Amino acid sequence: MGKYKLLDPVLSFVRNNLSLRQRRALRIILANIFPWGLNTLASIYGSDKWGGHFYTTHYHEHFRKLRYKKLKILEIGVGGYEDPHYGGASLRMWKRYFPQSMIYSIDIYDKSPLQEKRIRIFQGSQADEAFLKKVCDEAGPFDIIIDDGSHIVSHVLTSFKTLFPLMKEGGIYAIEDTQTSYCSSDGGNSKDLDDPKTSMNFIKKLTDGLNYREFNLPGYVPSYFDRHIVAMHFYHNLVIIHKGENNEPRYPPLLKEGSS
Ligand SMILES: C[S@@+](CC[C@H](N)C(=O)[O-])C[C@H]1O[C@@H](n2cnc3c(N)ncnc32)[C@H](O)[C@@H]1O
Repeated sequence: MGKYKLLDPVLSFVRNNLSLRQRRALRIILANIFPWGLNTLASIYGSDKWGGHFYTTHYHEHFRKLRYKKLKILEIGVGGYEDPHYGGASLRMWKRYFPQSMIYSIDIYDKSPLQEKRIRIFQGSQADEAFLKKVCDEAGPFDIIIDDGSHIVSHVLTSFKTLFPLMKEGGIYAIEDTQTSYCSSDGGNSKDLDDPKTSMNFIKKLTDGLNYREFNLPGYVPSYFDRHIVAMHFYHNLVIIHKGENNEPRYPPLLKEGSS
């Protein structure tokens, strides 16, 4: 039955005697006890970052060294839309994955009933620069930022341009669902893949900045992004950008050991 034969009687007992609700509660209790991987935690808490999408495998690669550090993490988009009591799956998943960290989130709707110990939620739009700056003033600087909000191209870009400069040196910024870059109803474009207004083209253009020190352009003035992006990772519908100091002759370290 199971992978571990000794557990078979226990699993049978659980399946035959506990209701769906009780089994879910048991999984959550066990998740509090065992340091399960991110894919498992996504399934336990019901986040589509695993299953609907396959982001958690990539996140684990980038986050595993940071798991037990004391970080400030911001996720754009609580989930559950208008319903104030529905959503928050990924926030609970991050809370369990990062047991020492504080999880912050923003949503256009009031999601305050979903707040709990180590989860704080602000109401406002990711397209509102002043609101984003206020959140950073109050709760930042953030070590990790995950954009899983509206996925509208202009919103994605406003959030990135506002939040990336305000996050910690050594931080990691993730943008999910980049497929909207190809969807006209979200402000994307599939017909002209070089359209400079799409999110993917904005982000792709930043890759040149990784090598700005080698440009043969006398007088070139590096942008903030040139000087502060040290690695960019492109996956299916997901981009992960590492912040650091891109002004040293050697490849700069990513999030420093012992930083919190
Ligand atoms: C895909 S859901 C987030 C799912 C959640 N991160 C998870 O994995 O469980 C997107 C959320 O973004 C919110 N949202 C939509 N437009 C927004 C905006 N302009 N600013 C902030 N949040 C927004 C929606 O209300 C919705 O709750």
